[in-house]
Amino acid sequence: MDYLYQAGKPNGKKFILLHGTGGDETSLVDLAKFLDADSTILSFRGKIEEDGMNRFFKRNGLNQFDFESLEKETDHLLEEIQTISEEKGIALEDWVLVGYSNGANIAAHLLLERETTLTKGIFFHPMSLEVHTQSFNLADKKVWASYGGKRDPIVSEASFAELVAAFRDRSADVTVVETAYGHQVSMDEVQNAREWLKE
Ligand code: MLT
Repeated sequence: MDYLYQAGKPNGKKFILLHGTGGDETSLVDLAKFLDADSTILSFRGKIEEDGMNRFFKRNGLNQFDFESLEKETDHLLEEIQTISEEKGIALEDWVLVGYSNGANIAAHLLLERETTLTKGIFFHPMSLEVHTQSFNLADKKVWASYGGKRDPIVSEASFAELVAAFRDRSADVTVVETAYGHQVSMDEVQNAREWLKE
């Protein structure tokens, strides 16, 4: 997978960045630097192409997900993260997964469906992919997630609620933030995520 790696200061956060549909490895860099100016960044480009737009797994129309692709690409992403983490000498538990929309969806799926020592996620406007095949405990996971309420044309309140419940039912610590700007990421929520990271 194509990716961008930028080493930060030793005490900075370590972010894995996963863009939304149509983005690339540069899309979330400014956001990450706002979250922590000293951060180390590992930012992936989704390798699925849909009408010239990069994504992390295939779909057959809006919110019509290709589950075979989802599982394959989740495994592939995890392998990439493991390989690069070893190369760079960064423990998996030190990373914070930061994703928006399609990137948040694959990151949340990774935490819910693969047993790993990745523990933290910041998910902007994710939704449930309605895959619940695992039951291992998520008490070691800390998740911050935002949604755009009724104004979000892509993520319904019910789908967001299902995702939050999937984490909470398995004992993850989830912080939820509702925004007023639909599917767009707003400054308010980024500030909120920054405060959450400091806790
Ligand atoms: C998107 O367009 O990125 C969707 O909202 C989420 C997805 O397809 O995973």
